[in-house]
Amino acid sequence: MARETVLTPGHLIHPAFVREGITEPVPIASMPGQQQETIASLILAVRDAVDAGCAAVLLFGVPEHKDAEGSQAWAAEGIVQRALRSLRHEFGDRCVLIADCCLDEYTDHGHCGVLRADGSVDNDATVTLYTRVAVSQAAAGADMIAPSGMMDGQVAAIRGALDSNGFADTAVLAYSAKYASVMYGPFRDAADCAPRFGDRRSYQMDVANQREAVRRAVGDVVEGADMVMVKPALTALDVVARVRDATDVPVAAYCVSGEYAMLHAAAAAGAFDERSAVLESLTAIRRAGADLIITYDARRAARWLREELNGV
Ligand code: PBG
Repeated sequence: MARETVLTPGHLIHPAFVREGITEPVPIASMPGQQQETIASLILAVRDAVDAGCAAVLLFGVPEHKDAEGSQAWAAEGIVQRALRSLRHEFGDRCVLIADCCLDEYTDHGHCGVLRADGSVDNDATVTLYTRVAVSQAAAGADMIAPSGMMDGQVAAIRGALDSNGFADTAVLAYSAKYASVMYGPFRDAADCAPRFGDRRSYQMDVANQREAVRRAVGDVVEGADMVMVKPALTALDVVARVRDATDVPVAAYCVSGEYAMLHAAAAAGAFDERSAVLESLTAIRRAGADLIITYDARRAARWLREELNGV
């Protein structure tokens, strides 16, 4: 009766990795219980998420061929484009399809953009490529494009490209406050996208900064973002709360791969009960102000929440 925060399956978004050139799903060693999907196994996973009541699916592609520009990211027959078409065909409007829009899974050097001769990331040239990725994902059926590369001006450019290509109804979920975090370690196995040299600190945010996160989120809304995101979640709850207060669009928090790995390793070591730990963490992220949570536990947590409702 006195509870201030509710957590339901409809608050949870299921992230999925779809990999080109495999015939069976491949387990992700650093994320026990998670796997790279074939299109067929992706459909099964998404059916499970939809049946459990999850809000949406966030799709990442792992292409067979990488190059300096990451051209498979905008290929009409790219793995994410094919997966989007299959999911739309299979589920119609029963599932919201969000496409991660970035280049790191597609470039041979692993950075989120194209490089200048000196190895630094060229912001504006990268944004131009993001617009191509976004339009191709929208054409393949994405409801929402989620630019995650943290380039300046990416939201405005993507919004403009979607509008001028007939995709005015496709929404933008901006990764607004994405920290340069160690917590993305396991993701780089999952999506095969560790930078071959250097790090992402020239485009991702300094963990020490809070005001900058608020400024970026507000700026992304001005540029046309329909929702904003804070990432990671558990180490940025203060940021989630401030961004929730400072904006009037839905705020998503991404409970990232390292958070998943950390919690499950601790549970496996007997530190605490896994189910209780997952539900407590997700409730805390909601309490901080997140309207939506992207979590690798989405499907399981959704089932646990239903069991709780049914008194199990
Ligand atoms: C970049 C991207 C990353 C994640 C989501 N989008 C990796 C990175 O920035 O290094 C990380 C998600 C996670 O760790 O779960 N396309």
